Amino acid sequence: MTNALDCLDTPSLLLDRQKLKANTRKLLHLLREKSTGVKLRPHCKGVKAPALARLFLAEGGETIEGICVAKTSEAEVMVAAGITDILITTEVIGKNKTGRLMKLAALCPELKVVVDSRTLVENLAGACKEAALPQPLKVLVEINVGQNRTGVEPGEEALHLAQFISQMPELKLVGLQGYEGHLQHLCPTSERERLCREAMEKLTATTKLLTENGLAPSIVTTGGTGTFLTCAATDGVTEVQPGSFALMDTAYTDALAGTYEIALTVLTTVLGVYRDRIVVDAGLKSLSTDMGFARPFKQLPEQGNTVARTLHNLTYTPGGDEHGILKAGQDGTLPDLKPGDRLLLIPSHCDTTLNLYDTLYLTEPGREIEAVPILARGKVQ
Ligand SMILES: Cc1ncc(COP(=O)(O)O)c(C=O)c1O
Repeated sequence: MTNALDCLDTPSLLLDRQKLKANTRKLLHLLREKSTGVKLRPHCKGVKAPALARLFLAEGGETIEGICVAKTSEAEVMVAAGITDILITTEVIGKNKTGRLMKLAALCPELKVVVDSRTLVENLAGACKEAALPQPLKVLVEINVGQNRTGVEPGEEALHLAQFISQMPELKLVGLQGYEGHLQHLCPTSERERLCREAMEKLTATTKLLTENGLAPSIVTTGGTGTFLTCAATDGVTEVQPGSFALMDTAYTDALAGTYEIALTVLTTVLGVYRDRIVVDAGLKSLSTDMGFARPFKQLPEQGNTVARTLHNLTYTPGGDEHGILKAGQDGTLPDLKPGDRLLLIPSHCDTTLNLYDTLYLTEPGREIEAVPILARGKVQ
């Protein structure tokens, strides 16, 4: 018997449509339950496919306030696909990039970008002037709420930058961003929530300071898959920007104890079966390892050449660029597999794994597999 998956060559990236939708609905439900009026601006640096960004927008209705992307080149892809309310969550610097940004801003008055220094503000204002942008470019001050990545310090430093922006006719200060990326996977949950509340205090205090100085931010944006609920319950937060909830991976599954289902997997083929190991065709070029190694999925949904049995005792380690090695778990037994059999692996980190593929395959029982181009794959500029 063959099934639809047997037609796909491997390694291939699969996305379960029902689980993707269920994860999105679950997150929207939790958000609506926890907060009044806080919007979702899903971060699309992970999904990278405009088709999936559109799916978020369709599912979210009134609760979704545009999307986030990390980079200008990702924004270009989303704009070309007709999505116009976009927040670029990474600072944009350099003549080349600001030039590209201006082209997008001319098309999309709702395009927004974060800044965290006077140099960036001056550069952007200069680029807007040169491009004779028909409307001021919307900017958010990014503050460092503890991740110690980008962002000005909360409080006075943020206020001074906001005041500087407000003097620039080419720019419009619309808000604050403060992303607590360092907390997303922290366990136990109680500690993650406690530290997130501390991080949010910095955002709230800065919002208050700006408001007292006549610069009330209309957007206060923050949060990821591990923290957005705590963020959404914080005074002054207007939107949250999680992204991984839709796809999921082992890192988030371990941290969030089954809140969302694993929707993203890599289909791989057994190359050989040996005394103490099974070797598959997915190695370092098919699965990222920055968050640890992938894990075999327990089962496959369909029969055929595809293996549908419990595989959860197996462990996976990369066997080089092109190979993966499966070894028996504690019970010491290898499943009865043969060359050509296929199984699913769960990526440890969805964002960095998805970025390795040009196409993802949307699967749903009873429906034809749909090939979705990952148009922003590799767009890191
Ligand atoms: C600024 C920013 N916001 C939101 C997110 C979304 O986080 P997650 O995919 O963990 O939900 C990220 C992810 O790295 C990010 O960098």
